[in-house]
Amino acid sequence: MSNNPKVNMSIQATKKVNGLADPTKPFSSFMKYNKNDLDMKMKFIKAPAMNTFLKAKVFSMVKDNMMETYKKCPWGWNGKDKRAELFHKDSRYILVQHSSNNSIAAFVHFRFDIENLIEVLYLYEIQIDKDVRGKGLGRYLMSLLETIAFHYKMKRIVLTVLKSEEDVVKFYFSLQYEIESYSPEDAFYYILSKKKKTLELVKN
Ligand SMILES: CC(C)(COP(=O)(O)OP(=O)(O)OC[C@H]1O[C@@H](n2cnc3c(N)ncnc32)[C@H](O)[C@@H]1OP(=O)(O)O)[C@@H](O)C(=O)NCCC(=O)NCCS
Repeated sequence: MSNNPKVNMSIQATKKVNGLADPTKPFSSFMKYNKNDLDMKMKFIKAPAMNTFLKAKVFSMVKDNMMETYKKCPWGWNGKDKRAELFHKDSRYILVQHSSNNSIAAFVHFRFDIENLIEVLYLYEIQIDKDVRGKGLGRYLMSLLETIAFHYKMKRIVLTVLKSEEDVVKFYFSLQYEIESYSPEDAFYYILSKKKKTLELVKN
């Protein structure tokens, strides 16, 4: 608890939404993506409910997509730390599966958390398999997350992106993310955020 009543309210707001069994429930009819040749279904899961097989799959997607990039930046790659972050008790996931065979093609890892004294939805990870990129799935997942975040009255969506990942930075800028006021100017990463909903969640 803090001495600041505003911060206490933020802590309470985060606790409440963290306690929900499934925060995607009000949006269950949007938990699919049938567009641009893709036929995908989505499900929500908390990290502590993931089995070993699922954890291995999630970890290998992150490793395959990110290890080389991390190695080239001051963070470096530390598998143990990455695992701890991915499967932290507060980690929340939306998994995207091919409807045809249930194989996982994408996921988002997010948390409801306090950042800079306010309640936020923090996007830790968005990972999409190479063969399903460029088909609007990333944008759709971001519109779903935005809808969830502001439905539960989070004050921001926040994420960190490496400046060297120019395509990914472009992706977030195309979704109207902005550089946060406290994003360090001389760092190798940006902290990006969004204060209000701009993406429409479209039935598909
Ligand atoms: C970045 C990523 C999430 C984008 O997802 P996606 O499904 O391929 O993107 P979409 O098809 O929804 O594209 C959405 C918008 O971003 C833009 N965009 C997507 N990929 C882009 C790229 N490589 N370069 C420039 N713009 C890009 C698109 O032009 C599109 O803009 P529009 O809606 O105005 O047409 C996906 O490529 C990915 O998972 N990459 C590897 C993992 C990663 O780096 N994750 C981020 C770090 S955690």
